[in-house]
Amino acid sequence: MKYIIGNWKSNQNLTESLVWIDSIQAIKPRFNKDISVILCLPFTDIAGFNHKLADLEMPITTGAQNVSHLAPGKHTGEINAAMLAELVSFCIVGHSDRRREFAETSEMVAKKARLLLENSITPIVCLDLPYLDEQIKELFQKNIDVSRCIFVYEPIAAVGTGRPIDPVDANHTANQISFLIDNAAPILYGGSVTSDNVKSFVSQNRIDGVLVGTDSLEPTLFAEIINSLGN
Ligand code: 13P
Repeated sequence: MKYIIGNWKSNQNLTESLVWIDSIQAIKPRFNKDISVILCLPFTDIAGFNHKLADLEMPITTGAQNVSHLAPGKHTGEINAAMLAELVSFCIVGHSDRRREFAETSEMVAKKARLLLENSITPIVCLDLPYLDEQIKELFQKNIDVSRCIFVYEPIAAVGTGRPIDPVDANHTANQISFLIDNAAPILYGGSVTSDNVKSFVSQNRIDGVLVGTDSLEPTLFAEIINSLGN
């Protein structure tokens, strides 16, 4: 199975997200049973988006971009894993945006992954070289079954810059991650992925898919990525 995962970050309100579905519906990308297409949305879009996806029987699965590291309780403003369980099957944790802007630590990320798994949601764990070993160690310390996760190598220099890294270098790090998790889970690449370069990453022997930021927002570009891999 190959994965194309979109991450909208803090973009698109519900109305805009429904227009996005209409556009994808009109473009008719070549969805394929061997490619899992997942879109990680802002919390506020998920319920409405799911309804429309179901009405149109569109083969896209939704995910969230973050979850509280705390269990349900007196934590004003927090969205916990049990709340998400009714809405999504996947959730990104440990994105470099959150490490940088919200001081998230590897320990917090491991707590989030644990709560997600307890609620049958697959954590999509983002990694970069400076904290790769530390993060995986934290997951093992919290007894997390890494075979129930998806991992993404997202080198920060390539995120949102239009400058992807060399696919061979990405594959090298994917192999490093694979070794640490005993080859137990899919490993994706993220960072300036486009329809022009997606195949060069996914054709590497240890890269099982991509996490796409900027080009997931524009239906035409996202559909081109799906079509590029489907061919
Ligand atoms: P870009 O595709 O915009 O580089 O973003 C990558 C990313 O951060 C996905 O999570």
